[in-house]
Amino acid sequence: MEYQQEEIMAKPFDWKIMKRLLTYAKPYWFYILIGVIAILLVTVSNLLRPYLVQQAIDNYINNPHISKEQAIQGVIRIGSLYIVIITVAFLINYGQVYLIQYTGQKIIFNLRQQIFEHLQKLSLSFFDRNPVGRLVTRVTNDTDTLNEMYTSVITNLFNDVFIIAGIVIAMVSYNLKLAFIALSTTPLILTGMYIYRKLASQAYRLVRVRLARINAFLSEHISGMKIVQLFVTENKKMEEFKKINKEYYDANMRQLTIFAIFRPSMDVIYSLTLALLIWYGGRDIIAGKIEFGVLYAFVNYLQQLFQPIFDISEKYDILQSAMASAERIFILLDTKEEVKDPENPIPLEEVKGKIEFKNVWFSYNGKEWVLKDVSFEVNPGETVAFVGATGAGKTSIINLLCRFYDIQKGEILIDGIDIRKVRQQDLRKHIGIVLQDVFLFTGDIKSNIRLNNKNITDNDIYRVAKYVNAHQFIKKLPEGYNSKVTERGSTLSAGQRQLLAFARALAFNPKILVLDEATANIDTETERLIQDALEKLTKGRTTLVIAHRLSTIQHADKIIVLHKGRIREIGTHQELLQKKGLYYNLYMLQYKDQLSESKIS
Ligand SMILES: Nc1ncnc2c1ncn2[C@@H]1O[C@H](COP(=O)(O)OP(=O)(O)OP(=O)(O)O)[C@@H](O)[C@H]1O
Ligand SMILES: [Mg+2]
Repeated sequence: MEYQQEEIMAKPFDWKIMKRLLTYAKPYWFYILIGVIAILLVTVSNLLRPYLVQQAIDNYINNPHISKEQAIQGVIRIGSLYIVIITVAFLINYGQVYLIQYTGQKIIFNLRQQIFEHLQKLSLSFFDRNPVGRLVTRVTNDTDTLNEMYTSVITNLFNDVFIIAGIVIAMVSYNLKLAFIALSTTPLILTGMYIYRKLASQAYRLVRVRLARINAFLSEHISGMKIVQLFVTENKKMEEFKKINKEYYDANMRQLTIFAIFRPSMDVIYSLTLALLIWYGGRDIIAGKIEFGVLYAFVNYLQQLFQPIFDISEKYDILQSAMASAERIFILLDTKEEVKDPENPIPLEEVKGKIEFKNVWFSYNGKEWVLKDVSFEVNPGETVAFVGATGAGKTSIINLLCRFYDIQKGEILIDGIDIRKVRQQDLRKHIGIVLQDVFLFTGDIKSNIRLNNKNITDNDIYRVAKYVNAHQFIKKLPEGYNSKVTERGSTLSAGQRQLLAFARALAFNPKILVLDEATANIDTETERLIQDALEKLTKGRTTLVIAHRLSTIQHADKIIVLHKGRIREIGTHQELLQKKGLYYNLYMLQYKDQLSESKIS
C-alpha cells in the first residue's frame, strides 16, 4: 500500500537532504552564527565551573600553607566569580535559545508557505492520487518535525562537539594518566551506540509504518462514519482497529525496549569509568601525586562528558523523523504540475464564448479512453446539454474545458484559440462552474458567494441571490446572509447548495457557464426554483449543461448524447425524439416514471 512505501523510503541520514535543509537556514545564517557563538560561550562556562571548584579546593580549602583568613577570602573570591559566571551563562543561554527558536519558527513558516503555494499549483490529477490527510500532514506535522531538528539537533550538535572537545582538552592538560583512564571506555560506548543506531532505526520505521496505518484507518472511518453506522459494521471495524492498534502498540514496545536497554547500559559504562577514575585517582592522591581538587574536576567532567551520550538516543530519533519528513516534503515540492502554462501565453481578456472540441481523445490514467474522438461546436450564447448514462464522460468534458487535465489527442478551442496556448487562470476566469457536488467553504453564506473577491459588494450578493432564487431560503436561515456554513456545507440541503452555487457562479459574471447537475433527488418546489434560475442564468452566455432530469434541457439549442465516451447523437429535443435512438429511449424511461408518479399523486 502506498502509505507504507512512503514511510519506508527514508534513510536515517542523508547528506543530500541535509544539504537542502541547510539551504533553508541560509537566510538566517547570521542569527545562527550568533547562536553558535553563544553556545560556545555557554560551553566555556560549563568547562570553567569544575576548574573553579578545583582551584578553590586545592588552593584554599585544602591548602595547609595559608592562613584561615586567606583561605576564606580566596573561597569568597572564587565563589563570587562562580556566581557571576553562571549568571552570565544563564543570560547568554536565554538569548541563544530564543534566537534559535525564532530562527526555527521563521524557517518553518516559510516552508509551510512554500508547500501550500506549491500545492495550489499542482494539477488535479495529483489530488486524484493523493489523499487529503497525507497532504495535510506534509504542511503541519512534517514541518514541525523539521522545526525540532533545526532548533534542537543542530544547536545541540555544536554544543556536544564543543563540550566533548573542551573536556578532552581540559582532562589532558590536567593529567595525562587520568585522562587516559577516563577515556578508556570510549570503545565500549562507540560499540553500544553503533548497535543502538542499527536497532533503533529499524524499530523507528516499524513504528512509523504502523502509525501511518492507524492514521489512514482513522481518517477514512471517521469521514465514513455514516456508512459504518448505517451498515452496522461497528463490531467488525472495532476488531480491525484492535488489530492495527495492537500492532502499533507492539512496535512502540519494541522501540521502548531497545531504548530501555541502551540507556542503562550507558549508565553502567559511566559508573564503571567513574569507579576506575576513583580507583586510580584515589591511589594517586594518597601517594601525593595529584591533589584532591583534580580528582573532583575529573569526576565532574566525566559527568558532563556522558550527558551528550545519554541524550543521543533522543536526538537520533528527532534526526531520523526529520530526515523522513524532509524527504517527503521534498518529494512533494519536486512534483511538477502536469498541466503547464505556455511560455508565451496568448492573452485572453475578453471572450465571445465560442467553444469547439475537435477530435478529442482523453484518458485519465493512460489506459482506457474516457473520451473517444469527441467533436462538437457551441456558438456564443448557445445552450448545449449533455446527456448519457453514468460514467459516459460528461463531467470529464467539463474538466477538459477548464483544462484541469490535458488531452492526449485533438484540440479544444475557445473563440478559436487552443486552450493550451493561454494561461490556465486566464482561461478559468471566463468559465463559471456549478459542480455536481457543490463545495462550500467554512465561513458564512456571503463569503461562500464572494469567495474572497473584494470586487463583489454585499449588494451584488443580494442581487444575484435574489436572481437565482436563493434569497428565499437564505433569509429564512437564523442569521440570513451571515449564517455560518460548516465544512462542505453539510447543514444545507442539496438543492439549497445548488442554488448557492448558482449565485456564486453568477456573481463572477462569466461568459461561459457550466452546470453539472446534481443527481440527488430534489423536491418539486426546489426543482422549480432551480429551473427558473437556470433559465435566467443561461441568458447571454454560452452554457453547457449536464442534465440528469431531461425535463431541464428541453429548451437547449442542442443536445449531445454521449455513450461510453463517444458522441452518438446531436440535435434538438424534438429532432432526437423523432430519431427514436438513445435519447428517445432515455426520455421514455424517465417519462414513464413521471407518469406513474403523477398517477400516484
Ligand atoms: N479523476 C478521475 N481519475 C480517473 N478516472 C476517472 C476520474 N474521473 C472520472 N473517471 C472515469 O472516467 C469515466 C467518465 O467519468 P465522468 O465523471 O466523466 O462520467 P459522467 O458522465 O460525468 O458520470 P455521472 O453521470 O455519473 O456524473 C468513468 O469511467 C470514471 O470512472
Ligand atoms: Mg458526472
